[in-house]
Amino acid sequence: MQNTYPNSRPKVSWCKDRQVPGLHLNTGRTMVDADVLVVKNVCTMTQKLAEKRLTVLGTGKLGGILLRAYLKQELFAPKCVRATVQHAEKAKALGKELGVAVTTENRKAAQGADIVLLCVKPKVMGEVLREIAPELNEKTLVISVAASVPTNYIEQHVTAKIPVVRAMPNTPSTVGCGMTGICRGAHAGAEHLEIARAMFSAVGRTVVVDEKNMDAVTGLSASGPAFAYIILESLAEAGVKVGLARDVATLLAAQTMKGAASVVLETGDHPALLKDAVTTPAGCTIDGILELEEGKLRVTLIKAVVKATSRAGELLFEK
Ligand SMILES: NC(=O)c1ccc[n+]([C@@H]2O[C@H](COP(=O)([O-])OP(=O)(O)OC[C@H]3O[C@@H](n4cnc5c(N)ncnc54)[C@H](OP(=O)(O)O)[C@@H]3O)[C@@H](O)[C@H]2O)c1
Repeated sequence: MQNTYPNSRPKVSWCKDRQVPGLHLNTGRTMVDADVLVVKNVCTMTQKLAEKRLTVLGTGKLGGILLRAYLKQELFAPKCVRATVQHAEKAKALGKELGVAVTTENRKAAQGADIVLLCVKPKVMGEVLREIAPELNEKTLVISVAASVPTNYIEQHVTAKIPVVRAMPNTPSTVGCGMTGICRGAHAGAEHLEIARAMFSAVGRTVVVDEKNMDAVTGLSASGPAFAYIILESLAEAGVKVGLARDVATLLAAQTMKGAASVVLETGDHPALLKDAVTTPAGCTIDGILELEEGKLRVTLIKAVVKATSRAGELLFEK
């Protein structure tokens, strides 16, 4: 593997049009999809990123989803990208599949990088940071997706005043429908957040939050797909119970959940109002709702997110 990135980076002569429909919220310090900003800046930011040298450390499920999206959307040029995994055979296979340099050597991979994207598990984060620390400087943007790893943990493992951004995406990113919560560390500025938002907008929506809310983001939107799949599976099972073929029932359940979520995102209406619009007086929906209330669906979901949030704070300290 080469130790240095190519000097001549490709000039980007194209720019992609991207629509970012949906909720336009800007409440206090939490910004959801600063749409206008992203749309206006997308070409500039795309060009900026294409000129950056990106290193992805820990290219497993999530790192792989992100890197595949970047390469497919030409956000980064393949020759300016390096990636690592733990196992040599995986490195070889991934390198062949993605057409980028993949190795098991984190330090070499981080050498000269403009952006280091940390996608390793929380328990190996300390070890990986110690390895790459000598290669980082104040110009290197470090972005971590590791659950429960605070920005100051990363900052303490490196000597320089490194800009650190912490992000919490989710697996629907694999189909471009992800949700990523983002916060910045002590030395990261608005420009670093903007780069991170562009990188995670490539796989869905983004929201900027205070770091104190990152475990909550983990418990809600990173664990959330698992909760949603259980609800979806149960609705499909219900369809089978009332006589539908399983594939038809699964389609009905999945598109219904997707549709309901899309209405919330596109109208910004409160879910309770939208629910009321479906619920005809003395109709069938209200009977179903009574069953849900009796089964404590709401309180069960709330408790699931609360548990997942408190568990999110513990992962770093496990061996
Ligand atoms: N999965 C999710 O839904 C999700 C959502 C949000 C955030 N995250 C965060 O994303 C991170 C990765 O999760 P994941 O689900 O993608 O895990 P994963 O599939 O197990 O990926 C971890 C990757 O790290 C590699 N690795 C292990 N030790 C390494 C080392 N010392 N140096 C370099 N690479 C190393 C592994 O290599 P091998 O492939 O060779 O074993 C693997 O490719 C975690 O911190 C998690 O908290 C995950």
